[in-house]
Amino acid sequence: MLRALRSYLNDLDKAGSGDVLLSDKALLNLKNLESITRSPSHAGEENGPASLEEIKQRLERVEGVPTLRDRMVFATGTPLSRLMFVGEAPGQEEEKQGEPFVGPAGKLLTRIIETMGMRRDEVYITNIVKFRPRVDGESQGTANRKPSPGEMRTFIPFLADEINVVKPELIIALGGTAMAGLLGIESSVSSARGTLHKFKDCPVIVTYHPSFLLRSGSNSDKRKLWEDMLFAMEHLKMPISEKQRNYFRS
Ligand code: URA
Repeated sequence: MLRALRSYLNDLDKAGSGDVLLSDKALLNLKNLESITRSPSHAGEENGPASLEEIKQRLERVEGVPTLRDRMVFATGTPLSRLMFVGEAPGQEEEKQGEPFVGPAGKLLTRIIETMGMRRDEVYITNIVKFRPRVDGESQGTANRKPSPGEMRTFIPFLADEINVVKPELIIALGGTAMAGLLGIESSVSSARGTLHKFKDCPVIVTYHPSFLLRSGSNSDKRKLWEDMLFAMEHLKMPISEKQRNYFRS
């Protein structure tokens, strides 16, 4: 894609077009491309992993967590993104498809990302725990549960490695479990919203988990989550239209 864009711009240059008019959407795409062309990643420094593939291979070998099921669900999206979403752990649908956030909560997350003006494959989506937590042995059907603090502690070093490779400019922690795992904050999501926190050097904001919104259905909760996304977009200096500013205002 970058090669095609470069050749297109070269052609325009040769044809003598000094200026190119871009729509808001094209500008937004270019802003996302900035992440692709930003200075090379320092992944691999301090003996950290050189790539997501390496982290994935290390995760395959994680042993001794019998409270989790066996199928790994790694991340999705692009490691070149400036924005990373972190959830808690895969559920039944994610385990079946081998991809995070593809069930009902995931569909809502995809809609949120699109409403922000991006595509799902333009951001990076991951979970703290990469295996579905076990409930009552093997045949747990649709039953899902939140990962325990101990399960999360096992996986935080892997997430820290992912963050070190992707180097997002912002992480959005989805829900109280991701917030507790990433930031060690045990209070309510409501009280931690609206502030820039830090995981190591990386800025983090906290918002409600999409599954909370599905349960709540309330317009005022939708607006609160949306205000958190506007906060994220402002932090990333993304263009925000008047229409976007006013979503879910009653
Ligand atoms: N909830 C999460 O926290 N992560 C998923 O991948 C799916 C649902």
